[in-house]
Amino acid sequence: MESLCLKIDQIGTPAEVLQLSARELPSLSGHEVRVRMRYAPINPADLNIIEGNYGRPTQPPVVMGTEGAGEVEEIGPDVESLSKGDLVIPLEGGGCWAQHMTAAEHHFAKLPESLDRVQASMLRINPLTAWLILKNYLRLEKGDVVAQNAANSGVGRAIIQIAKRDGFHTINFVRRPELIDELKSLGADAVFLDNAEGLAEARSLLKKMLVRLAANAVGGESAIRLMDLLSPEGKLVTYGAMSRQSLKAPNKFLIFKSLELHGLWISKWIEKAGSIELYEALSPLAEMMRNGDLTIAVDQIYPMSDFKMAVLRAQESGRSGKVILDLSVD
Ligand SMILES: NC(=O)c1ccc[n+]([C@@H]2O[C@H](COP(=O)([O-])OP(=O)(O)OC[C@H]3O[C@@H](n4cnc5c(N)ncnc54)[C@H](OP(=O)(O)O)[C@@H]3O)[C@@H](O)[C@H]2O)c1
Repeated sequence: MESLCLKIDQIGTPAEVLQLSARELPSLSGHEVRVRMRYAPINPADLNIIEGNYGRPTQPPVVMGTEGAGEVEEIGPDVESLSKGDLVIPLEGGGCWAQHMTAAEHHFAKLPESLDRVQASMLRINPLTAWLILKNYLRLEKGDVVAQNAANSGVGRAIIQIAKRDGFHTINFVRRPELIDELKSLGADAVFLDNAEGLAEARSLLKKMLVRLAANAVGGESAIRLMDLLSPEGKLVTYGAMSRQSLKAPNKFLIFKSLELHGLWISKWIEKAGSIELYEALSPLAEMMRNGDLTIAVDQIYPMSDFKMAVLRAQESGRSGKVILDLSVD
């Protein structure tokens, strides 16, 4: 049986090198399962991988797609943990932009059946990154303040929603004024424009309140503003570089405030984490999604065949959320 996938034979501009391709499905053996993929987001990392601009070399030919969700369609004779029809997400690696994925059962995590499929397709990367930023660097107490830039990104929105659930306050910076009310209705305590005026407004709101943790997905001047807000010994966790500007730490922040600079890469964390640690992180996030306490905004859903339009849209700024590929349709 043939199945479609989106692959690249060479690195380059996503809309030029990505192609729809048919491949023969292998027969299943032992602990293997075949998953009928339903939805997959286009994350910045997917575009970076296609461009050959990621943390690991891209090695074409390769089926693209860092995350997605689907249902188990067929199971090998020795499979124990999954059954036909289970909603699953792949736990690591790529290859999610495909109608089918075939791998060992431990490659997939089973999610609650009632979870929205589009939301489930985005669970593993952005919410998990947000969760790690909030849990892994210091023990935040209720009432603590966390600052972040790119607050309307997938990760940023997840930080707002997890922080709200756990009783932390968020100070958020965005590039567009129309996002201010939207993020407040999501649970953000304060939202400012990511510029010098926004920083001054945030300072005057905070007065003597301490900001012990800040999440940086932009770099350049925006990251310097976060460092400015951080209290002595505060931690800046850099997980993205949307401006493509280097992180520059003014000497005074390191000398007089002893700020700590950290970097987070979820792929590395997942590789190191045992399955129990990964499960313990994903389960409460899946539960939040199921309850409607964690929602990742969606900009537009494109059928797989419209992949060129989809990647072009994903590269535009000012989107209202994630661009999603619908893998159910041809
Ligand atoms: N380290 C990790 O493990 C990890 C995990 C997940 C994500 N990430 C990274 O985190 C970042 C956000 O990812 P995401 O999936 O949450 O993003 P997303 O939902 O696709 O949103 C992109 C965000 O970046 C902003 N942006 C775009 N171009 C920008 C620029 N030139 N300067 C400043 N902001 C800009 C957008 O603002 P507008 O809406 O105003 O355009 C939007 O807030 C990316 O760099 C991604 O690679 C890293």
